[in-house]
Amino acid sequence: MRGGEGLTFTIAVAGKGGVGKSTFAALAVRHLHEKTGSVVLAVDADPNSNLGAKLGIEPGKTVGGIREELMSLGEEPPKGMSKQEFLDYQIRLALKEGNGVDLITMGRQEGPGCYCFVNNVLRQIIDSISSKYDYVLIDNEAGMEHLSRRTTRSSNVMFVLCDKSKSSIEAAKRIAVLAKEMNLSIGRKIIVFNMLDRNGDAPSADTVPGFDGVHALHKSEAIQAKMQEDESLVNLSREDPAFRDVARIVDIESRSKPS
Ligand SMILES: Nc1ncnc2c1ncn2[C@@H]1O[C@H](COP(=O)(O)OP(=O)(O)OP(=O)(O)O)[C@@H](O)[C@H]1O
Ligand SMILES: [Mg+2]
Repeated sequence: MRGGEGLTFTIAVAGKGGVGKSTFAALAVRHLHEKTGSVVLAVDADPNSNLGAKLGIEPGKTVGGIREELMSLGEEPPKGMSKQEFLDYQIRLALKEGNGVDLITMGRQEGPGCYCFVNNVLRQIIDSISSKYDYVLIDNEAGMEHLSRRTTRSSNVMFVLCDKSKSSIEAAKRIAVLAKEMNLSIGRKIIVFNMLDRNGDAPSADTVPGFDGVHALHKSEAIQAKMQEDESLVNLSREDPAFRDVARIVDIESRSKPS
């Protein structure tokens, strides 16, 4: 499975707090790398970063932290450095290499003010290096803020996670509506019902209008145990029920990439 004729395939993950976005994202990254051999670009676009921990990557510099360094340089390229060279320098600082994955972590912004600068740098970095990868995966913070920040603005597929709670399903529907209203370029919007019991199925598509597909993701005791031990998901068995679900979902939805 490739991202298409040399094209980058971009996946965004969204949903209410705690519904399993980062778990889905980390397993999707692992699956894509293990299946295709490609190095995946993973973007942790949540200021409360934890995608790196799930991918077994030590914390490094974040875009928020780099901002502090740039402030001391006046946010302009130092003398003798072009804007592009300056951006390349920021990217080198921000990229952390893991097993089959390059990770960029947004991180927090020190001090008051909006996240505009951090967002701009993050967007520039994504725009500048995405084309070097077959797959880009963006793990978003809870809620809908990332849609207006437009870090999700063009994705081949957006997976919106929810569990059985009404509030998380409503949140997922609102995300789909807002993405449509904002005319974001998202190929397919897919809702994923997480934490289902062993024999549980996802509700039928007509109960969740606004989505192009519905999938079920089962609860995994092994994932719960790893989280309690603060362990990453790098050694989670491929036979794990949730990992198998993620692999199947990603395969199906990557194949249905619009041309
Ligand atoms: N299928 C699953 N089986 C078992 N545990 C799961 C599953 N999916 C997620 N979890 C657990 O649920 C908790 C929340 O998951 P996760 O951190 O992925 O959610 P999130 O949506 O990224 O949260 P946040 O909004 O805080 O970023 C974690 O402890 C995770 O291990
Ligand atoms: Mg998360």
